[in-house]
Amino acid sequence: MMFETRTCPAYEDEKEFTDLKTIIKKKLGFNCDGYKQAHLKRRLAVRLRANNSESYKEYAMTLLNKDGESEKLKETLTVNVTELFRNPETYEKFSRIGLPELIKTKGENRTIKVWSAGCSNGEEPYSIAIMLLEFLGPRANMYNISILGTDIDDDSLRIAQCGVYKPKQLEKISKGRLDWFFIKKGDDYVVADEVRNIVHFKHHDIISGPRLYGFDIIFCRNVTIYFDKSLQDELYMKFYDSLNEGGYFLMGKTETLFGKTGGLFKPVDINERIYRKLR
Ligand SMILES: C[S@@+](CC[C@H](N)C(=O)[O-])C[C@H]1O[C@@H](n2cnc3c(N)ncnc32)[C@H](O)[C@@H]1O
Repeated sequence: MMFETRTCPAYEDEKEFTDLKTIIKKKLGFNCDGYKQAHLKRRLAVRLRANNSESYKEYAMTLLNKDGESEKLKETLTVNVTELFRNPETYEKFSRIGLPELIKTKGENRTIKVWSAGCSNGEEPYSIAIMLLEFLGPRANMYNISILGTDIDDDSLRIAQCGVYKPKQLEKISKGRLDWFFIKKGDDYVVADEVRNIVHFKHHDIISGPRLYGFDIIFCRNVTIYFDKSLQDELYMKFYDSLNEGGYFLMGKTETLFGKTGGLFKPVDINERIYRKLR
């Protein structure tokens, strides 16, 4: 078997790297500044290799002149890996200890607003919707539930909007959930209207996009992992502001709250990265 041994780029030039980041920002609207630079370089190397570019400068010319390269680079930079009920134990724990508290605190206020920030192909917001519908059962009709899925990747958002899944993607879903919340369509399954009606998608950049407010729950899982510490801290502060008092914040299992935001949230379950905004 042959392995790729060539290093990409052939030489490191920080000025060329900075210039390339400026071009990426202008051409793709993708701001690389807060990304961990080592991660960024690894992702760029994929496209340099694919285009036989020896340097960032050479790749910059390709990016500016080659049809379709912008789309391919964006696809490479945005890591879209996701699945329905990713880390099912987190959903189970949140349903058991977070949701009862949230509902109790809300009392007569029957509006539940959720934000899935960096929702990729939609699996996360649909899982949240199913979790809420299961938890509330017949009471769901009494609530005005709205789940917003946002991402910077429009291709992902298009897939999310369709809500169509292959049987392979549903292998870990219980038969009960499959029968109740999905409808078989040809070889695939489509998310049932009951779920779809409470989930909405829109393009939004968590770094530079407009601030969003009034959420009871925010999921931002496996997104900030690619950002440097100071950007992470800034974003966690923004999420804090976006939450209602007593609202919940859920992170990815390899992400942690630290610095000033660490003191603003109460850890509800550290293992599952479930936090609550202190009153
Ligand atoms: C690995 S996926 C995580 C999906 C889902 N949250 C999960 O945990 O399964 C990361 C997603 O974050 C999105 N993303 C990256 N940077 C972003 C930004 N600045 N604003 C919004 N979304 C972003 C990517 O496009 C990608 O779809």
